[in-house]
Order: sequence, then C-alpha cells, then structure tokens
Amino acid sequence: MSDPILNVTGLNKSFGAVHVLHDIDFGVYAGEVTALVGDNGAGKSTLVKCFAGINAIDTGQMFWEGKPVTLSSPAVASSYGIEFVYQDLALADNLDITQNMFLGREITKGPFLADGEMEAKARETLSSLSVRTINSVRQLVSSLSGGQRQTVAIAKAVLWNGKVVFLDEPTAALGVAQTRQVLNLVRRLADHGIGVVLISHNMNDVMEVADRVAALYLGRVAAEVKKSETNTGQIVELITSGRSGTIGLPAATAVQSA
Ligand SMILES: Nc1ncnc2c1ncn2[C@@H]1O[C@H](COP(=O)(O)OP(=O)(O)OP(=O)(O)O)[C@@H](O)[C@H]1O
Ligand SMILES: [Mg+2]
Repeated sequence: MSDPILNVTGLNKSFGAVHVLHDIDFGVYAGEVTALVGDNGAGKSTLVKCFAGINAIDTGQMFWEGKPVTLSSPAVASSYGIEFVYQDLALADNLDITQNMFLGREITKGPFLADGEMEAKARETLSSLSVRTINSVRQLVSSLSGGQRQTVAIAKAVLWNGKVVFLDEPTAALGVAQTRQVLNLVRRLADHGIGVVLISHNMNDVMEVADRVAALYLGRVAAEVKKSETNTGQIVELITSGRSGTIGLPAATAVQSA
C-alpha cells in the first residue's frame, strides 16, 4: 500500500462541551478516490473543515507527504495544494465561469486584469478534464445547470493545482445525468494523480467511483476498507451501527454510543 499524501492521526475536535470527533486517523492517497461516509451528524463536514484550516483541532497531527504540518488557515491549506468543493458551491452567480475560477486570485498585468490569459487557462483546465458540457468560459454561472456548476467548482480546484481535493456531497442536488457527469469527473481527477475525498450518502456513487471507503460513526472512524474488499451491505452496517461482522468499532463502543 502506498503512503498517504495527506493524513491525520489522533485527531480530536470539540465544540464547547460537545466532543464531535474522536481519535480520528484518516489518510488521502494520490490517484485514489477515498469515500468518506457516515450518517447525518457523524462528523464528515467537521473533519473536512479541519483539513481546510477552518476548524482548529484540539489534538492530533496532520502530515503532508509524511512531514508534520499545521493547517492553520484556508490559505495555508491551499498553499499545499489542498482544495475544497462544498455542497453550497460558493460560486458567484453574477460572474462568468472564468471570473469564478479566478475569483480572489486574479492574474494581473500592472493595474489591469489579464483577462485573455485567465480565459485561456480556464478553457485549458476544462479541456484537460475532457469537460464537453460547457460551451463557453464566458458564460454566466447563473445560466448553468447544477451539474455544470459542480463541474466549474471542481475544475477550479484543478486550476489551482489541487493535489488533494475534498468534495462535500457534490452530487446531492443533481439529477441522474448530471450526477453521471460529476462522477466521471471525480474519476478523472484521480486518474490525473489527484487524491480525492468524496463525501456522499449515495452508496451507488460510492461503490462506483471510490477506491477505498472510510466510514465515520458518531465521530469515530468505524473502519477504512478497500472498495474491492467490501460491499454495499457492509458499508451500510458500518454507517448505521459502527460495526459489521468482525470489522468496525469494538462492540462496547458501538453499543454504548448507539
Ligand atoms: N460549529 C459547530 N458548533 C457546534 N457543533 C457543531 C458545529 N459544527 C458541527 N457541529 C456538530 O458536530 C456534529 C457533526 O456535524 P457535521 O456537520 O460534521 O456532520 P456531517 O457528518 O457532515 O453530517 P451531514 O451528513 O448531515 O452533512 C453535529 O452534531 C453538529 O451539530
Ligand atoms: Mg456534512
């Protein structure tokens, strides 16, 4: 098994008196899709925000390519090439695709915006990902479908040299065809060598696109399994009870917390 490009050991996170994440060990591998699954409130988004430098962690150590790092802010996370696509997308409707992809990180030439250069880079990135569903990078984001928006948000992460990309429920709001486009794109990111973390409640999506699956149960990692060595039933059990057969949390933890 290869070493993770990004990982954390012994992570604990509380909000006030509420202990949300317990002793989390979690890794991301270059060229692989790791699905992060768990019930509502299991702690998935909280964990992602720890990697984003949005949530300060109470205990634990992060490692980038095996070296200890402190992801103290979103800017630090992005300086390592860790990018995020959130469910609520954070694209600006009144701007076009190019403007969105460069929002807050515009290329300038003297006092002017280097529009042509940004446009060309936006186009290049979309074509490097074989995106064929978007005609013009000058199209306003308000005119895009949900799937096209997700595509732009994901391409933006790639444009900024994302080496690790976290996707928090990218297909939650999408129809069948659009989900297909986004899952294809997720697979292509991994094929480009990017380490992808996919949060999803949809077991079909997970089984289709993931290389490994990490299941969170009440703020603990119940198990991390290879997709080739698991099945939907096992993952559903890990999500709902923290255990499945011989794998998962010790019975005491699973029962006590349930
Ligand atoms: N800023 C916060 N302050 C207090 N509690 C929080 C905060 N953020 C998250 N929590 C709590 O942490 C727990 C985990 O929430 P989180 O959003 O990480 O779950 P999730 O696995 O992403 O769920 P979902 O599938 O619904 O998105 C929840 O009980 C939530 O109420
Ligand atoms: Mg969430």
